[in-house]
This record gives sequence, C-alpha cells and structure tokens, in this order.
Amino acid sequence: MNEPSPVVYAERRAKLAAMLGPKGIAIVPSAPEQQRNRDSDFLYRQDSYFYYLSGFTEPKAWLVITGEGKTTLFCQPKDLEREIWDGYRLGPVAATGQLGLEEAHSVTELDAKLPGLLDGREVVWYPFATHKALESRIDGWLGTLRARVRYGALCPQQQRDLCGLLDEMRLFKYGHEQAIMRRASRISAGAHVHAMQLCARMLRDVQPVREYHLDAELLHEFRRQGSQYPAYGSIVAAGANACVLHYRADAGEVRAGELVLIDAGCELDGYASDITRTFPANGKFSGPQRALYELVLASQEAAIAATRAGARFTDPHEATVKVLAQGMLDLGLLDGNKFGGLQDVIEKRAYFQFYMHRTGHWLGMDVHDCGSYIEPSEVGSVSERTDPLSGEIIRDRPARILKPGMVLTIEPGIYVRAAEGVPLQYHNIGIRIEDDAIVTDNGCELITRDVPVGVQEIEALMRE
Ligand code: GLY
Ligand code: MN
Ligand code: MN
Repeated sequence: MNEPSPVVYAERRAKLAAMLGPKGIAIVPSAPEQQRNRDSDFLYRQDSYFYYLSGFTEPKAWLVITGEGKTTLFCQPKDLEREIWDGYRLGPVAATGQLGLEEAHSVTELDAKLPGLLDGREVVWYPFATHKALESRIDGWLGTLRARVRYGALCPQQQRDLCGLLDEMRLFKYGHEQAIMRRASRISAGAHVHAMQLCARMLRDVQPVREYHLDAELLHEFRRQGSQYPAYGSIVAAGANACVLHYRADAGEVRAGELVLIDAGCELDGYASDITRTFPANGKFSGPQRALYELVLASQEAAIAATRAGARFTDPHEATVKVLAQGMLDLGLLDGNKFGGLQDVIEKRAYFQFYMHRTGHWLGMDVHDCGSYIEPSEVGSVSERTDPLSGEIIRDRPARILKPGMVLTIEPGIYVRAAEGVPLQYHNIGIRIEDDAIVTDNGCELITRDVPVGVQEIEALMRE
C-alpha cells in the first residue's frame, strides 16, 4: 500500500485519545482471518477502524489506546518458520519505530497484559457488535482483574461503544484521504470505459459476450492500475438482470439491443470507489431506453444540485424522487388517473414500484461507510408517521447536515419489471447512474466523471 506517513495515524490516535477521557482506554482488534474452505482462506482485509488508527495490515493484532495518548500494539511475533510459509511479519521490536507507537508486544502476551492495562481505568471503549467474541474476550480480562481486587486492583465501571467516536472522525475525509479517493475513482472510471468499449467491440466482431467477460475486464483494469481489490462484488447485469438490485456478475448473455448495468469500483489503499453506468450493449440507445435513461440522468442532475454544505443528507434523494416521479407520470409508467398528480405519487410512495432504494450513502474506507445519517445536534427531535405502503410507524429524526469533506454517492435508478399496466416498451429495463461526490462549501466535486454519463458521450465512446 502507498501508506501515508505514521504521523497521520498518530494524529488520529491523539484526537481519539482526547475523547476517551483521562481514565478511558480503547481496545481495537484487527479483522479476523476467515477460512473459505479447507486450508484456504478468504483474502485478508484489515478492519477499517484498526487500519484507520494504525496503517498496519497484519492480522492477529490489537491496539490499546489510553486517554493519556499512549498506544500499545500487540502483534504477531517474529517467527522464521511461519514467515517462510505465510510471509513477512513486522514484529513488536520494529513496530514501535515504524508505526510511531509508544509500546509493542507479542500478541501471545495479550491475555497476560490486558488486565493490567485495564487496572485503574474508569471507562473501557471498544467497538460494539462488530467482532464476534470480542465482548467475551473483554469479559475475561475484566474477570481476571476482578479476581485481583483483594490485592488492590481497580475495575473499570463503564463500557462504551467506540464506534460512535470513530465513525464521526471517519465521516470527514481530509487531504490525503480525498487524494486517494480521487485516484481510486479515476481507476474505477477507467475500468468502466474499458468494459464499455470491450462490449461494443466484441459485439461488432460478432463474438458472444457474457457478463463475466466484462467483469474480467473490470478486475484486470483495477489490478493493472494498482488497486488491491474490488471494493465490493461487481454487479454486471445484462438486460432484465439489471432489475435485480444485488445481482452479481454471472454468465448472462449480453445481447445487442439490451442495456448493460455495471456497478463496480475498486478499493485503493483502504478507500472504496463506487460507480454505476448503464449503457447499450452495442453502443446505441433505443427510443424507450433513451427516454428512461435521460429521466434517470435528469434526476441525478437534480440530486447533484442539491448536494452542498448546509443541505440535508436527504435533500438529494428528495430532489431525485421529484424528477423521477414526474417522469413516471409523463412516460405512462404510473397512471395519473389511478395515482393522481406528482404530490400524490410522492406522498403515497407510488414511485417505489420502480425506484426502491435511497439515492446515496457515505463512501470511504467501507463502501457503505460509517457515520451517522442523523444530525447530531437534533437527535432528540423525533417525529412519527405511518408509511403509506407498509402501514408501519416510521420514526423520523432530522437528517444529517452536509459539511465539506463528507463523501457520498449519488445514485438514482429506475427498474421496470414486466407487470400489468406497465407499457411494454419499458419492460425489463433497469438503469442506475452512480457517481461519487466530495461535499464542498459551494456544492460538490464529482470525482468519478472520467467515465461519461451523457447519451451522446456514451454512444461516441462505444464507437471508438
Ligand atoms: N455498490 C453498492 C452500492 O451502490 O451501494
Ligand atoms: Mn453505492
Ligand atoms: Mn454502487
């Protein structure tokens, strides 16, 4: 990885330490290794919180951070035999200097040292409900400490969720993080361009095209440009498959005359990108495809215009819904006689038949990144309403106010399954357009536009 200097991580730990309170202590585990099947593991990916605070990519490691700002790392010890099989280990001796930490020990000493580190602390912070068996490990250390109270040990009185503090820090992306995210976006955009052009070229050459051909092209470009892995399982959906929201690249045939929806992004140095493009397999939109595509694009433009510091997180979604709902009435997807006008379609959530997801999410180290979607200063303000479709009571809290440095996706879509009353020419068309945006003072910076979105631009690209 092209890691930022240890200073970046030290600054984050210092900022976190200041929030733990002087008698606080935080425990952060690395991600567990996971077996895929006998003798074969899933590719290891470090836990986002752990990586955010250390830049350290090895498994079987723990960070312990005190309110005074002292960090102790527990990591795999040097072991020549294991390193011959599994690769280089940094080891605790080199770790302090290289990672800029105060102290490091072998992870084999974790159970022996943790009770002592917890002694005299008031609050133990750790990420709740994220790591299987973490709570019982902590219970074990606290139990050991409690057994020593007769000898003067002092047990912590409180356990608190570390996620809240770290989520809030991770929600704002600073200089070098934005730079990595721009680079990740450029790589992903380039991969989309390659996949679109490959599709058109193969069909021109009368070669059979399957979804996996395009998936392979994306993966090839991601890795060729130095990204470590896809940020999530790529969706490559030909024709009607695009109406399945979580479809994965499979073996579906890509046919001239149909649309292809690709939702794919790489992860670079710990940060995700997330792009969706929908394009005609042979490079030319049909009339109905174009009508729906331009509607989704117009709804995305409305959402982009609503994405700026001071707006609420929900504003882009509301702007999208307004445009899509009007378009659904205009194109006859929704019958105005049955559903009424725009306001009725929105209030009754009739558009949900064709647009059933939100218009975006935070983006960062995780593709659906952490960070509260509720405005922290207004958490107490709760209102209740009845959902018009499910009849459930929904509790609304004021949505997050956008600030510079937040990064989110803007991804409207339309998914038209064959159904009675739906004009035939739109059946089985699924479209989504997704870009990644950094919130700025005056608006937002779209970092994924190296792959075009306009009808003419896409058609021109696919003719090349
Ligand atoms: N690729 C996941 C998403 O768009 O949210
Ligand atoms: Mn997304
Ligand atoms: Mn996506």
